[in-house]
Amino acid sequence: MDRRMLVAGNWKMYTTSGEGAVLVQDIAEELDDSLSGVEVVVCPPFTGIKAVSTVIELDHLTMGLGAQDVFWEQEGPFTGAISPRMLTELRCTHVIIGHSERREHFGETDETVNKKVHAAFRAGLQPIVCCGETLATREAGNTDAFVRSQITSGVAGLDAEQAGRLVVAYEPIWAIGTGRTPTPESANDVARAIRATIGAMYGPPAAMQMRVLYGGSVKPENAKMFFGEPDIDGALVGGASLDAKSFADIVRAAL
Ligand code: PGA
Repeated sequence: MDRRMLVAGNWKMYTTSGEGAVLVQDIAEELDDSLSGVEVVVCPPFTGIKAVSTVIELDHLTMGLGAQDVFWEQEGPFTGAISPRMLTELRCTHVIIGHSERREHFGETDETVNKKVHAAFRAGLQPIVCCGETLATREAGNTDAFVRSQITSGVAGLDAEQAGRLVVAYEPIWAIGTGRTPTPESANDVARAIRATIGAMYGPPAAMQMRVLYGGSVKPENAKMFFGEPDIDGALVGGASLDAKSFADIVRAAL
């Protein structure tokens, strides 16, 4: 199955709008024309989306633009929330949903993840759905069961065609921002379990089409090892995505 590799940069709560515009230009310069074989996405904070979108448009860049979260309603009395149509109007193409930091600090649950996934598809946004276990869950040997349950609830109620277009980012919480990673083989085991879960829910074609990213301390030095695994189709990159050269090196590792 020929799945296109995807490397997405999650800028988290870093970069002002001005800094984001500079960063995306730096990334484009570093990547030059090596972009074409890999789908590249940058995900600035909400306040940076407009400026980054303008750079992408004016410089005719092919990279995708993602938000780090979205609310499920189109508009209404939801103070502080951002709707799918606000993102698509700024030419966002992707949205990260259910990142562990949102689950930890902002009350995100599998149920809210599911509402957001449906809202993203309705709006034509590509959801990047995050899952991943804590260290305690891993040490108790419950990683597979935990991740399968996150996926079963988080992406329930789609049709098979949508399921085939899903992107799931497997991010062990203990690997995020820590410099620690699972072995590529054990990350692939979980990626395979995620694919099997989608297969059981939506059938083998969807399972073969959908993409699984690995995330958690991905760096230029280790990216290629993860990309060499059969069920891993790219990476969701945090810290290293804030450095244009590092991010570009990770993209090149996926070529
Ligand atoms: P990290 O973050 O690459 O800094 O570990 C990954 C993420 O949280 O998406």
